[in-house]
Amino acid sequence: MKITDFYKYKKPGRKISMVTAYDYTLAAIAGASAVDCVLVGDSLAMVMHGHESTIAATVDMMALHTAAVTRAVKDKLVIADMPFLSMRKGLAPAMNAVEKLARAGAQAVKAEGLAGHEKIISHIIKSDMPVMGHLGLTPQSINKFGGYKAQGKDPASAEKLAAQALELERLGCFALVLECVPEDLAEKITASLKIPVIGIGAGPFTDGQVLVLQDLLGLYGEPPSFVKKYLDGRRLVTEALDSFDREVKSSVFPERKRQ
Ligand code: KIV
Repeated sequence: MKITDFYKYKKPGRKISMVTAYDYTLAAIAGASAVDCVLVGDSLAMVMHGHESTIAATVDMMALHTAAVTRAVKDKLVIADMPFLSMRKGLAPAMNAVEKLARAGAQAVKAEGLAGHEKIISHIIKSDMPVMGHLGLTPQSINKFGGYKAQGKDPASAEKLAAQALELERLGCFALVLECVPEDLAEKITASLKIPVIGIGAGPFTDGQVLVLQDLLGLYGEPPSFVKKYLDGRRLVTEALDSFDREVKSSVFPERKRQ
């Protein structure tokens, strides 16, 4: 999927699938799969580095992982997250961050939130780097939200999110991630936009879905309730490791060639 396909796929009967990837090995598997596009999410701070939130992600971390992913994924769109505060230090630092991610191979960036970012988002887009918006439960704002809480539940905040979504489209974003909002609101926002809306924990009525790869593979802790595990990865990997351990300790592996 190329960036130009995003608009074409906003139609009934064609959903967009996106997964995160952070390392070469899993990115190569995601790249060879049917999944449409790959996000180097700042969730890598948690999934790859064991931090408690995405706030620990830095531009250098994002660039390092983006380079590993783009070495593996050759013909899918790779989007990289602008990490915490990278949009808040003014235009030049934001553009330096975009440059690092683009030189690491990202074909687009994703930026959380809108308020105070309007000029920077517009400048990035006018500099020919496509931007994906991200509204709802934006994890970089958990300190403001007081935790991982669904957003847009009351009429005023729902209205604000719907207006922000329209503004991101007006600024030129090519797609929008909508995280943990009520499904009726996600459906309304999806219907109001020409650009595709990719949901996560936002119900079935968006134009596509994104999940953290390690969540869907069952590899990373206890995932949020909206996640569907497509593999019991933790159990399968543990069984493989235990088999290896048993065979080493019982001298079954490696096989003896000489008696
Ligand atoms: O960082 C991330 O993984 C994300 C997605 C889950 C949307 O932003």
